[in-house]
Amino acid sequence: MASILICGGAGYIGSHMVALLIERGLDVVVFDNLSTGHGEAVAGATLIEGDVRDAAALDSVFRSRRFDAVMHFCALSLVGESVRVLVAYYQSNVAGTLTLLEAMQRHGVGKLVFSSTAAVYGHPQQELIAEDHPTVPINPYGRSKRMVEQVLADAAAAYGLRAVALRYFNAAGAHPEGQIGESHDPETHLIPNVLKAALGSGAGLKVFGDDYPTADGTCVRDYIHVDDLAEAHLAALDWMQRNEGFHAFNLGNGQGFSVLQIIEAARRVTGKDIPFQVEVRRPGDPATLVACADLAREALGWQPRYREMEGIIETAWRWHSAQRY
Ligand code: UFG
Repeated sequence: MASILICGGAGYIGSHMVALLIERGLDVVVFDNLSTGHGEAVAGATLIEGDVRDAAALDSVFRSRRFDAVMHFCALSLVGESVRVLVAYYQSNVAGTLTLLEAMQRHGVGKLVFSSTAAVYGHPQQELIAEDHPTVPINPYGRSKRMVEQVLADAAAAYGLRAVALRYFNAAGAHPEGQIGESHDPETHLIPNVLKAALGSGAGLKVFGDDYPTADGTCVRDYIHVDDLAEAHLAALDWMQRNEGFHAFNLGNGQGFSVLQIIEAARRVTGKDIPFQVEVRRPGDPATLVACADLAREALGWQPRYREMEGIIETAWRWHSAQRY
């Protein structure tokens, strides 16, 4: 049975990955410092508490069994926060990955799937963003992810590391059975905040800016279900058996939804009113981010299963309406 080490497996996307790997019968070890993750989200896996910046802790994990590959989800990931506490971002996202790479090399583990982001592109120069779009990130978060991608390309050339960077657009939704979902504190993401407003909890929904150059003036994003992201990681793992080097793939649905369209879709799903207030723009938000994910479809044979916004929101609603806010 293949053994996979999931760094950051107790977080939002990582925990959905863990659930899928267990479902497929793989042996999974989660390594997570639980700074933003939740131990109860990985109930079926072995959880080792530790930090990717801690080489000794990594050594002991790699000594515990023979891993076929590593999936690396650990990161600080809030754009606005990254502008203020940039050193923490570079330390966690860049230095943490360097420490992990060295440990992998010491223990002879040669395959890595890395969580990257649409934020590596910066301001889009065309409507649909493909992987060959210039990568000119506009904040420390995006730069930290871009730096790691460059290191992975160097490592592939220098010592044959096989690495895939998956550039997520907006991760959304929850496991359809409702036991795991998105839970950040504080919550900054749109769909959880919309659903909290539908539940009448939280400080009231704010829409950040209605003066963008988009059809209704609010920001447009490409929302992709978290289980579809997890499936793409499995496909990447399989692909790496046959392909050397470093490669980056976009993961998105290729369809943009504005903030107002998301609120409207959530009204239909929940049957609730969902009041909101328009506020000034949030710093660092590009007007539009929509993926061209053809490469992932062609190379990895990956297809998102959740194509409708309502279907994605429905799974998130199941999770949020079961929470005690
Ligand atoms: N928004 C609101 N109100 C909220 C929350 C968000 O209006 O309460 C708006 C934002 O301004 C943005 C859109 O909804 O226009 C989506 O915001 P999210 O915070 O949900 O997601 P982002 O697009 O900011 O973030 C995502 C990923 C990041 C990645 C970034 C790239 O979560 O990891 O895209 O810009 F870096």
